Amino acid sequence: MEKDRQQWSSHISFIIATVGSAVGLGNIWRFPYIMGENGGAIFLLTYLLLIGFLCVIPLCCELLIGKIHRTDTVSAFEKINPKFKWFGWLCILTVLLIPCFYFVVGGWIINYIWIFLSNNIPDNFTNYFSSFSSQTWVPCILTLFFLFLTAIFPYKGVNKGIEKANNIMMPMFVIMLFIMALYAISLPGAKEGLTFMFKPDFSQFDKQMILTALGQALFTLSIGMGAVLTYGSYMREDTNIVKSAYTLIICDTLIAITAGVMIFPIVFSFGVTPSAGATLAFISLPEMFAQLPFPTFFGFIFFVLLFFAAITSGISMLETAIASFINQFKMTREKATIITSSIIAIISIPATLSFSILGDFKLLGKTFFDFLDYATSNILLPFNTLLICLIAGWCIKSLWKDNFGETFFGYAFNILLKFIAPIVLIFVLISGI
Ligand code: PFF
Repeated sequence: MEKDRQQWSSHISFIIATVGSAVGLGNIWRFPYIMGENGGAIFLLTYLLLIGFLCVIPLCCELLIGKIHRTDTVSAFEKINPKFKWFGWLCILTVLLIPCFYFVVGGWIINYIWIFLSNNIPDNFTNYFSSFSSQTWVPCILTLFFLFLTAIFPYKGVNKGIEKANNIMMPMFVIMLFIMALYAISLPGAKEGLTFMFKPDFSQFDKQMILTALGQALFTLSIGMGAVLTYGSYMREDTNIVKSAYTLIICDTLIAITAGVMIFPIVFSFGVTPSAGATLAFISLPEMFAQLPFPTFFGFIFFVLLFFAAITSGISMLETAIASFINQFKMTREKATIITSSIIAIISIPATLSFSILGDFKLLGKTFFDFLDYATSNILLPFNTLLICLIAGWCIKSLWKDNFGETFFGYAFNILLKFIAPIVLIFVLISGI
């Protein structure tokens, strides 16, 4: 069991690790295709408003609860009120289910890195992707391999493992992303791509888009499953919560926008429809890389940066569950890492097999992989975030006054937390279901 609770060795390490958790497949893979499907710039505008004014509230709450209680997710909610312990466990269930589909994509990424590294580029990525993902053994082994690579870091601890991994991988990720974005804007379709991203077409606005934007914002900030709370619990005493929350939001959003700047010029240069969906990263983009100069180099860089984004997020998912297992079951970090990884391994196998032998096994009309994505993103995340707002707003006495004082921000925070955020989240939940 952890006796002396570890802390980030510096404020910047805390920010890098939290940005590492937030920036993941959600930014590079999901954000561009969702934006493509929802009209480009008008989606971006809606997303910016939601993330800047609404999502900042539960984000601050998770950071505050972590900082105040300095413990894992389950114990933190138990400390607020023993009646809320079950909710801590619900967050842990959520954070255990997400990697079960997320790491499947991690396995695909490893495969694509190998393809480009070994210069074994297939002629037709549509056929390649469907034949690869419908195999039985290889995708399962790669999913487990990705899980193993991710688990090494929390196994080593907060400073020696998690902090080091983020401090090395995140700067490399940012450099690679900028190389790719610069390369993309030198392509002939750049102007069209950037117009699609930044010139809003208000006729495309609809209610469904607001819900999609909110779901994406919660997912990308890793809110609603205790990940931010857990990283916040290792925060230094002098850390400013609101500044940290906005730093995180700004970094996460800039990276998502840069990912769009990297992807849309390529998409428009080849006349592919920007709403190509989830297969954009694994079919359309690699197909285009293959036709550009230096395909091996740029294909390789793209998938390595996707890999870094996925693994730094994966580390925070594992750490959230591990921290709770350590405290709740009084076990060592090593044992907690092995148990957490084993649970994820068992559930991720049927998710991987959803593309092959379990393709006909459906829950609510969805394959197991799609069901996990749907149940976590559309139901558990908004529900958990709603409860976090209600608990922080109504059950922690004067959270806003103690932390922000009777300032304009304090009053605005209180109203948003108690009334506006819960109403919007209930609306999202009802339409999500
Ligand atoms: N925020 C990550 C992304 O955008 O890919 C996803 C994520 C990270 C979800 C950490 C949950 C979590 F605990």
